[in-house]
Amino acid sequence: MSLAIETINLQKTYKSRGGGSIGVVNNLDLQVERGEIFGFLGPNGAGKTTTIKILLGIIYPTSGVAKVLDKDAGDLEAHKKLSYLPEKPYYYEHMTGLEIMRFYASLFGIKDRAHCESLLERVNLTNDMNRPISQYSKGMQQRVGLAQSLLNDPELLFLDEPTGGLDPIAHIEIRDLILKFREEGRTVFISSHELSDVERICDRVAIINKGEIVAQGRLDDLLAGGRIEVTADNASEEIAAKLRTDDRTVSLGHGRLILEMSDSEDTGAVIDALRSGGSEIVSVIPRKKRLEDLFIESVASDNQLKGRKMSKMTGESTEPEATNEEEAGS
Ligand SMILES: Nc1ncnc2c1ncn2[C@@H]1O[C@H](COP(=O)(O)OP(=O)(O)O)[C@@H](O)[C@H]1O
Ligand SMILES: [Mg+2]
Repeated sequence: MSLAIETINLQKTYKSRGGGSIGVVNNLDLQVERGEIFGFLGPNGAGKTTTIKILLGIIYPTSGVAKVLDKDAGDLEAHKKLSYLPEKPYYYEHMTGLEIMRFYASLFGIKDRAHCESLLERVNLTNDMNRPISQYSKGMQQRVGLAQSLLNDPELLFLDEPTGGLDPIAHIEIRDLILKFREEGRTVFISSHELSDVERICDRVAIINKGEIVAQGRLDDLLAGGRIEVTADNASEEIAAKLRTDDRTVSLGHGRLILEMSDSEDTGAVIDALRSGGSEIVSVIPRKKRLEDLFIESVASDNQLKGRKMSKMTGESTEPEATNEEEAGS
């Protein structure tokens, strides 16, 4: 099946104050499959919002290809099938939730009040839909945003930091709604630096840093390589020596043995060896690799490497800095 989003060698550069050019998006190759929740991760300033704006056709790339639903980014046919919830949606505060929905519906030529009401019901705002937005919590405002993003029954949703600044309960509400979108067969592209949300709901992710992808793939694959910790009592130095390998760490003190091994190894064999040597198993604890570990690994090593590349490219500061809207010639 064709991809929902594809970019090839996408590049966006801005002129820097010193007259050089700053790459905000560099050689970006993204593949987002249809029907998946795709997490677009990176620290602040990594280029996430810039990429989304290119995919929506709000700004032009300096070079490269950006395809959305098989059309070039910004294509009007494709636009009818997608929606966008910006990082900081702006609402007229005096309007009620329902009025906001009807206002945005009118932009799509939708006059159906019942449609707006049913979407507000979906995001659990039926009881509050006649209150002004000024009285809504941040979580409620974000739920109005999600209701609004469903107005055109989109195939593809762009959600820019959808859980930013929300309390834990609101995080769960938003996550549950996004999971429903996938059940309905929609593709969801989420930019976020909220790693726990991404870890819970995304099928695949790309991590970007300074405009470049530093990791991309299925979350399960990226987080493979977890460790397992086996603890046993009444263990001898002899059994510890027998179990020690290059890929395991084994410590022993007062008869308590703690062994750490890869989760791709046969845990059962280790447990059997311990038991037949007269030890008692105290615990077997899988320690899964966390997205946070991957993120830090990818971004930290990348900062050192890419910092050098960037200074070569601009001939000056290694930090991209906001200057003006002018685009640097490619
Ligand atoms: N119009 C612009 N002119 C110059 N630099 C910009 C412009 N817009 C964004 N940038 C810079 O591009 C980088 C990436 O920004 P952004 O895409 O908003 O990052 P993110 O959404 O990942 O936090 C930042 O360093 C930002 O300052
Ligand atoms: Mg952003």
